[in-house]
Amino acid sequence: MEKLKSNGKAVVVTGSSSGIGKDLCRALVSEGYTVFGTTRSKNDSAILSEELGVGFEPLIMDVTIESQVLKARNKVGEFLGDGKLFALINNAGVATLGPVEFMPTADFVAQMDTKVLGTFLCTKLFLPMLGTNTQLVGSPGRIVNISSILGGKIGSPFMSAYCASKHAIEAFSESLRRELRVYGIKVVIVAPGSISTPIWTTLRNHLNNTSCSGTEYYRPFKKVLHSLERFDKNSLPIEELSKVIIKSMETKNPRIRYTPTKEYSQKLWPFFPKTLLDKFF
Ligand SMILES: NC(=O)c1ccc[n+]([C@@H]2O[C@H](COP(=O)([O-])OP(=O)(O)OC[C@H]3O[C@@H](n4cnc5c(N)ncnc54)[C@H](OP(=O)(O)O)[C@@H]3O)[C@@H](O)[C@H]2O)c1
Repeated sequence: MEKLKSNGKAVVVTGSSSGIGKDLCRALVSEGYTVFGTTRSKNDSAILSEELGVGFEPLIMDVTIESQVLKARNKVGEFLGDGKLFALINNAGVATLGPVEFMPTADFVAQMDTKVLGTFLCTKLFLPMLGTNTQLVGSPGRIVNISSILGGKIGSPFMSAYCASKHAIEAFSESLRRELRVYGIKVVIVAPGSISTPIWTTLRNHLNNTSCSGTEYYRPFKKVLHSLERFDKNSLPIEELSKVIIKSMETKNPRIRYTPTKEYSQKLWPFFPKTLLDKFF
């Protein structure tokens, strides 16, 4: 970890092997941050270390396994000494789709565990370093939870697991934001619209999922998948999202919820009457 010591503020980013987490690590390193990025495989961590170089340190952990999160936390603690962590970005996530009736239970559990349990465990274990340990020096750190512009506020058909996990993250963040005021630790939600990342490959794989063919679900399910493809094609450049996340970490008085998107109408959807949305879907 010697190579990190000349750098400034330290940030932990979960789910750095690809997509949003990876680009955020790149942007943070280029801004001079000391970045701890988590991956689940040694191979990904070696690739990332090679690509990002000085200023980046990989942590190998599955966010759903407490002992692994604890080990990673201790490694960051060793680096920080009596200093505080600048920010924790709870980004790791998966996308599970399909009609509830045909969704493998394990897929539902993985969705909830990755987003909800994972965010809980990382938050719980990193909180002392973010400032609830009042012996540490420096300003209170910040927590940024990655939600979804629509998934965090609206339930879409065939996306029950995904939307449930994102709604849970929004509620978790709101409670936490109020709970942590006493320590001055701010909690921010960044809820993007579509960003082109490998998560969309999952969606394409679902297009070949025929488990519900021959049922009434099949046609509307395919329609939803095709409309998601349209969102993917109109994605916000990933670098722009990274800028928003960094701003949400750095600005003195952050918004409660940032909604970076290229499809501005998505910002309004959560305010539409539910019965109108029912008809739309
Ligand atoms: N892309 C979008 O359009 C979009 C829009 C709104 C919100 N989001 C949210 O943004 C976040 C990142 O998504 P992305 O689009 O960047 O997807 P991605 O490219 O698939 O990246 C997901 C990351 O999460 C990691 N991960 C998954 N399960 C994990 C676990 N149990 N423990 C630790 N890490 C785990 C993955 O690691 P492995 O490589 O080991 O699987 C990967 O690094 C997610 O929370 C997603 O819901 C994405």
